[in-house]
Amino acid sequence: MLATEDLMKEHQLILKYIDLMERYAEFDLKEDLIAPIFFENANRFIQFIHEFADHFHHAKEEDILFRYLEVPGVLTHCNPVPQMLFEHSKAREFVRNMENAIQTKEINELTVNAGEYARLLKEHIYKEDNILYPMAERGLSDEAKSSLLKEYKETDNRLDSHAIWLKYEILCTELEQQLNVQKEAFAKSGYETRVIHEKG
Ligand SMILES: [Fe+2]
Ligand SMILES: [Fe+2]
Repeated sequence: MLATEDLMKEHQLILKYIDLMERYAEFDLKEDLIAPIFFENANRFIQFIHEFADHFHHAKEEDILFRYLEVPGVLTHCNPVPQMLFEHSKAREFVRNMENAIQTKEINELTVNAGEYARLLKEHIYKEDNILYPMAERGLSDEAKSSLLKEYKETDNRLDSHAIWLKYEILCTELEQQLNVQKEAFAKSGYETRVIHEKG
């Protein structure tokens, strides 16, 4: 019985969004667009971060898993929970900066903070998947695990996890397709410009 399997699955979707967000930002930087597509879509990424990564996933970690890990005797060598909580709050700070940058239309500030968020979250997820979660699997008793899984199920029902997953898998596909369309359109217009220039 694994207490961290659902959380690891959620990490995979978060990493997909982070990768996509980085590719959007990279496209804007590389192509120097008049209408930057990351800036125009940043609110959709932020909505995902708020609802899925923070409210849904981080809430499950903070309100449930970490509470179980703080019970004396569960983590024997060291306790990485305070560092994980610090990283969650740091991530929220980067998101606030992104929101402010959208308000003030500071495209560079938005990209810098999105990059910082992506870097932090990738490292954070790596630490959880490879250090914290295996520690939890070793330290939690079977009884604690089944009680924890019961709490996850209650949270999934309360927050309607099925609907959240569906919503954000659809959005992820949409954002992916939109980026591909933009890239193709840009490549084509660049090609046409080159052809006209060469003919001229
Ligand atoms: Fe976390
Ligand atoms: Fe996590």
